[in-house]
Amino acid sequence: MTPEETIQHTAEYVRSAFARDSSGHDWWHIARVWQMALRLCQQEGADSFTVQMAALLHDLDDWKLVHSAASPHAMDDHRPVRAEAWMRSINIAPATMEHVCEIISGLSFKGALVETPMRTLEGQIVQDADRLDAIGAIGIARAFAYGGHKGRLLYDPACPPQMHASFEAYQASNSATINHFYEKLLLLKDRMNTPTAKRIAAQRHAYMEQFLQQFLREWQSGDFD
Ligand code: ADP
Ligand code: NI
Repeated sequence: MTPEETIQHTAEYVRSAFARDSSGHDWWHIARVWQMALRLCQQEGADSFTVQMAALLHDLDDWKLVHSAASPHAMDDHRPVRAEAWMRSINIAPATMEHVCEIISGLSFKGALVETPMRTLEGQIVQDADRLDAIGAIGIARAFAYGGHKGRLLYDPACPPQMHASFEAYQASNSATINHFYEKLLLLKDRMNTPTAKRIAAQRHAYMEQFLQQFLREWQSGDFD
C-alpha cells in the first residue's frame, strides 16, 4: 500500500469503529481532528504520515470511552493496544508505530494542574488539533453531549469548579458540565503548542466566554428586559 492508501484504509477502519458513539467522540470528531491536524502540519512543517495516523487512531484507546467502567487508570500507564494492533496488522514501520503510540499515550488532558508535555512537533500538532475540537461552538456541543452521556447535571450552582492536581482526581470527578469549562475548556487556549493553533484557539475561547456569560445571565434571570 502507498502511504495515501494506508491513511484511507485506516480512516475506514476508524470510521466503522466510531459509527455509534454518542459521547461527542463520534467519527466526525476524528474527521475534524484529522483535517485540523493536516492543516497545522502544512503550516508548521511536520511529518504528515505520522500526524495523520496519530490523529486517526488517537481516541481508539481513550480511557473515557474504553476503560472507564472496568479499569479507570488503564490508559495512564498502558500502551494504546487497539491502535498498536491495527498498525501491526497493516505493517507500519516499527519506528513510526512507536512514535504514533507515544503521541496517543501523551495526548489527553489530565487535570488543570497536571502538565501534558509533547516531545515532538508531530505530537504537539495532534494534541493541538484534538484540543481545538474541545473548544468553541463545537466544544460546547461536545461538552454537553458528553455530560448527558455520563448522566451529569448541566449546572449546579452549589458545586464550585475544582482545579485537579492529579489524573486520578480528574478522572474521578463527576461534576456538572458547566464546571468542565472552568476545569478544562477555558484553560486550553494557554496550553496550545503551535502558533497557528494559538491563533485559532483565541477566537474559539472568546466565543465560549460569551456563551458562559449568557448562560449564567439566563440562569440568574438577569435577561428579563
Ligand atoms: P481529551 O482526551 O484531551 O479529554 P478528547 O478528544 O477525548 O480529549 O475529548 C474530550 C471531550 O470530552 C471534550 O470535548 C470534553 O468536552 C468532553 N469531556 C471530557 N470530560 C468531560 C466532563 N467532565 N464534562 C463534560 N465534557 C467532558
Ligand atoms: Ni479526541
